[in-house]
Amino acid sequence: MTTEFDELSLDTGKRAAAGYALGLVRDGARIGLGTGSTADIFIDLLAEDLRRRKIQIAAVATSRRTEERARQAGLELSDLNRLQRLDLTVDGADEIDPELDLIKGGGGALLREKIVADASDRLVIMADAGKMVRWLGGFPLPVEVTQFGWEATGRRLDRMLRLRDGERRLRLVNGKPFVSDGGNYIFDISLRRIRYARAMERRLETLPGVVVSGLFVGRCDFAVIGTADGMVQVLSRRS
Ligand code: 5RP
Repeated sequence: MTTEFDELSLDTGKRAAAGYALGLVRDGARIGLGTGSTADIFIDLLAEDLRRRKIQIAAVATSRRTEERARQAGLELSDLNRLQRLDLTVDGADEIDPELDLIKGGGGALLREKIVADASDRLVIMADAGKMVRWLGGFPLPVEVTQFGWEATGRRLDRMLRLRDGERRLRLVNGKPFVSDGGNYIFDISLRRIRYARAMERRLETLPGVVVSGLFVGRCDFAVIGTADGMVQVLSRRS
């Protein structure tokens, strides 16, 4: 059960991580803005900081939700097609393992998040300490699939991953399938413990009908982990 106190500690951790990540933003940088509650905090702090430091950046959003949040905060947005490459993307995650491999997509923005991360020289993940895990897979793995043939793709995933009844769920909102910004559906797959994340990411993404998986393997350069007492720990990926 999550208590009010836990929520407060999570928020302190997220704020601490977002505050640290702000220090990585340089004048003139091209930045990818992630999606989720931690990214929202970062966006608000960033908008304030740009006004205070009188510096300019070019930003690309990883979702419609982030676009809206950034505009509300007073940030102007650019387009990935125009910028082509980004210096840095700052995003959240649902799980982070000791190799800094990730599960993302809890907020349904995995496709744009992966495209933007791939176009970035560095991916920095901000998270509260509760996101650190020994093994990926405790958080159900989001897999985005085309609406066309989604049930057939689902059965193909069952066979590939040897899933049992109830381990693959179509994401719903108010009883209707959740539709991603890309117009696709999402399956949330309970795997408990993912042993070969890199191989699984590759295999999943070769399946026709699968658009993208929420596994982000070998992509995160730094993880900024905020703790309940407002401290941060910065982890960098072993090369
Ligand atoms: C959205 C994501 C988010 O980064 C992830 O769900 C973490 O969200 P939060 O910062 O709210 O904990 O991958 O698709």
